[in-house]
Amino acid sequence: MALRLTDSDLKQFDEEGWLFFPGVFSGDEVALLNEEAHKIFASDREEVFREKDGKTARTAFAAQNFNEAYRRLGRHPRLLGPVMQLLDGPVYMHQFKINAKAAFNGDVWQWHQDYGTWKRDDDMPEPRAMNIALFLDDVTEFNGALMFIPRSHKKGTLKAGHDLKTTSYPLWTIDEDTITQLVADGGIVSPKGKAGGVIMFHSNLVHGSPSNMSPFDRTIVYLSLCHVDNHIRRFQRAEWIAHRDFTPLEPLADHCLAELVEARRAAAE
Ligand code: SIN
Ligand code: MN
Repeated sequence: MALRLTDSDLKQFDEEGWLFFPGVFSGDEVALLNEEAHKIFASDREEVFREKDGKTARTAFAAQNFNEAYRRLGRHPRLLGPVMQLLDGPVYMHQFKINAKAAFNGDVWQWHQDYGTWKRDDDMPEPRAMNIALFLDDVTEFNGALMFIPRSHKKGTLKAGHDLKTTSYPLWTIDEDTITQLVADGGIVSPKGKAGGVIMFHSNLVHGSPSNMSPFDRTIVYLSLCHVDNHIRRFQRAEWIAHRDFTPLEPLADHCLAELVEARRAAAE
């Protein structure tokens, strides 16, 4: 299924700051990516960040650079297409992460804006970059769904503090008074849906997610794509967290992942 944003999608994105599309990837495509994600979480690569317990995978960075299924996902036309449409031009991969939010042990992501981090840590000139994310598990009210504050992307880059304590991962987070005001204006939405759904959101949209105390994993893979003219200027974070290859990404064919599913199946027979 190709993903071309309609005028009403563009209007909703502009006004609300986010979009959700169910059923963009098939069950087979998702199953392959989910299986590969768990192999990556079980590996001892430095790109796999653990929760505070030191064991549970929290997020795995840069899998598009070392795993064939994720290499293809990182160039998938169903993900690159709508972002190139919204950012109006060629994009490169600023960051790529598979967030585990594991059953029982997946910890919170505090309230934040992604561009707040990209500006402060990486000196990205403008918020001409955004996330598009694929659900690899069903996302429900139980397993730590994302929460968005609609319309908060209209407020620019908000003041934030560098939180090094709450979780194992440092994040520029927004204080409670600011969140209270933003929610009074915009409310909170929490897009949920089956594995295979895709969410996209503005890089200044304030968001977070609670911990996962359910017995269900909530794996989501995020492509953070940036217009090539807007590449980062500061290289203080590890290359595998904030990438430095600003080459425009060329989308692969729509069947690039389905083809890999078929090839693996044929090899197993
Ligand atoms: C993020 O905001 O970067 C991650 C949030 C989540 O996966 O819950
Ligand atoms: Mn974020």
